[in-house]
Amino acid sequence: MAMYNYLRMIYFSYMFRAKRILVTSALPYANGPLHIGHLAGAYISADIYVRFMRLCGKDVLYIGGSDEHGAAITIKALKENRKPQDIVDQYHAEFKEAFSKMRISFDIYHRTSEKIHHETSQDFFKELYKNDEFQEIESEQYYDTEANQFLADRYIVGTCPNCKNEEAYGDQCENCGSSLSPTELINPKSTISGSQPTLRKTKHWYLSLDKYEEWLKDYIEKGILDGKEHHNPSDWKNHVIGQCKSWLDGGLRPRSMTRDLDWGVDVPKEIPGSEGKKLYVWMDAPIGYISATKQWAIDNDKDWEPYWKDEKTALIHFIGKDNIVFHCLTFPAILKAHGNYILPQNVPANQFLNLEGRKISTSKNWAVWVNDYLKDLEGKEDELRYHMIKIMPEQRDSEFTWKGFQESVNNELVNNLANFTNRVIVLTHKYYDGVVPAFDENQGISSCHDKDELSFHDSELISLFDGLAEMGDNVRKFDFRAALSAFMTVSSQGNQLLQFNEPWKHVKDDPELVKVVINIGMQYVAAISIACRPFLPKTSDKLRSLLQLDPITENGEWDTMMNILAEGEELLIPNGHKIGDASHLFSRIDDEVIQTQIDKLMASSQTDKEVKSPIKTTVQFDDFTKLDIRTATITAAELHPNADKLLKLTVDLGFETRTVVSGIAKFYSPDDIIGKKVSLLANLAPRKIRGIESNGMILMAEDDEGQLAFVSPENGMMNGAVVR
Ligand code: MF3
Ligand code: ZN
Repeated sequence: MAMYNYLRMIYFSYMFRAKRILVTSALPYANGPLHIGHLAGAYISADIYVRFMRLCGKDVLYIGGSDEHGAAITIKALKENRKPQDIVDQYHAEFKEAFSKMRISFDIYHRTSEKIHHETSQDFFKELYKNDEFQEIESEQYYDTEANQFLADRYIVGTCPNCKNEEAYGDQCENCGSSLSPTELINPKSTISGSQPTLRKTKHWYLSLDKYEEWLKDYIEKGILDGKEHHNPSDWKNHVIGQCKSWLDGGLRPRSMTRDLDWGVDVPKEIPGSEGKKLYVWMDAPIGYISATKQWAIDNDKDWEPYWKDEKTALIHFIGKDNIVFHCLTFPAILKAHGNYILPQNVPANQFLNLEGRKISTSKNWAVWVNDYLKDLEGKEDELRYHMIKIMPEQRDSEFTWKGFQESVNNELVNNLANFTNRVIVLTHKYYDGVVPAFDENQGISSCHDKDELSFHDSELISLFDGLAEMGDNVRKFDFRAALSAFMTVSSQGNQLLQFNEPWKHVKDDPELVKVVINIGMQYVAAISIACRPFLPKTSDKLRSLLQLDPITENGEWDTMMNILAEGEELLIPNGHKIGDASHLFSRIDDEVIQTQIDKLMASSQTDKEVKSPIKTTVQFDDFTKLDIRTATITAAELHPNADKLLKLTVDLGFETRTVVSGIAKFYSPDDIIGKKVSLLANLAPRKIRGIESNGMILMAEDDEGQLAFVSPENGMMNGAVVR
């Protein structure tokens, strides 16, 4: 059986070379409960990565905590008439519990209201001040004379100059998505007192980001830091680099690092003019990663500095896409301005997760709350992790549906993973009293492979090795969906081994075959108990106990396993080992359970019955019949040459084709919609739109948030069918 496979040894030389790895997950704002969008964004991904790296024997430190400052917190406090500290205490405790139940394996879960954090971020501020990194700039900002305070952008509402939405915020209009500054709002109002704010002069400290523009370009676009090669930009996700580039191309401007607020980290009192000033939350929050590391070092009697200052440390930030600019541009500039800190090796940001066709929204109660899930589907933490990894928005936005969740659990976890592991365990009990059978090593020797003579057992373990290697490669590349799929392929391979050899049919006529098949099956199950760990930690514990093997401590087990498989001298679970009783890893989720969750979602989001688009005045049937609406198919689509909101579409009506111009370019790219079935208002008078004649109008449904959907016939209806 001993067999040295050169190719498999090469694999080990490619392993990640950093001496230690520092991993962070975005610190969530402690102003509302955790939902699945949070989990999908920055926590499950990071947890897979750190668990895998620990399995590879790496020195990994995983940092998390609550972001307890900023307007997000004070607005919530104001709304509920509570103290900010009270709000953050509540949510910090809830987060901690939710993360621990979901087995997000932070080495420390810290919080930014701690003293050590205030001191650390003030030290940073002082250092930057001393290094002359700030420009003091006076500007006019809105002030609420009734409440006697300056107003953060979010505290001002008014009419959007672009779309006339009357509830736009001082920093952004959520209706049309444009970013605003408070002085652009028409009819601004303070949300604190309702009064009209007045402009007052105030002074703040601005970090000269413009000064770092070229330096940041080198870092982001070329992976070059201070003239030295730092990382390979092609290892970064396209959308991350793309977003950074568009900021960089737009030119960086000095950014204010302080605010007039009464909640947050004080601007150090040594600095003249500091009274009443707080650090901007995006200055202090990322420093929260550093203060958490310090606290961890104190608690564990370790040194924090190598994690942040030694070039042999790889720093990886896991975040959602709305945090990209702060982690890839602002924070690196802050670290550079301070000096002596390393910069992120990679920032594998995720895009957004939608829920049942809509954006997740806390204010509209359109969310699956993690703590609710944990109550309603108690014990099914790994099931949620599994589905979230499968649909993780790694490269583009993705969608959670309860049906999709049910299908993942029933078709994949139950029918593939649990089914395979259970069959092997049950058969081992049935034929060998729960003892891993020894086998004939010459079983099925084939000399068809060059030089090496591979037994059946050997060649099956090579496939196992290859499947695991693929999983590992994908985790290292932050492609967790592909890693999960490689992992599940290992389980399917195991299932096929049983299906193909049908050991249950050969107990009498070929007992040696049965032994070798069950033995291979056992090696697969043992490998799965380790390989599932990054994705399904609870399942890993269960499986190890079913197998009566030591629990996984995430201390090099992956490397040990790959070495054993590569060398072929030992087994992952030895012959003669006695396993425990069989029990299923996962059970099916019934339709009723899913329906209950769907109903709950619909009901909770409809508490707010306010109708945004009231029904129009009554029409007669004759009015309606004047409209000629037809089914059609989009056969070609391209961007309108003269307008970036428009697409030029070719639609097939069966008996003729038309050119139609449609204002949906913001929501759909041409490739996404070719082949779509649509409804077309076919007798609309032709109209020239930016130089192209449009013959008809594609009907779209639009919800309160301005999300669009095509109105399509429900089955493969012919083109040109009449809608009435
Ligand atoms: N609280 C921020 C958010 O939820 C994330 C902060 S990440 C950190 O968007 F780097 F600042 F900590
Ligand atoms: Zn607007």
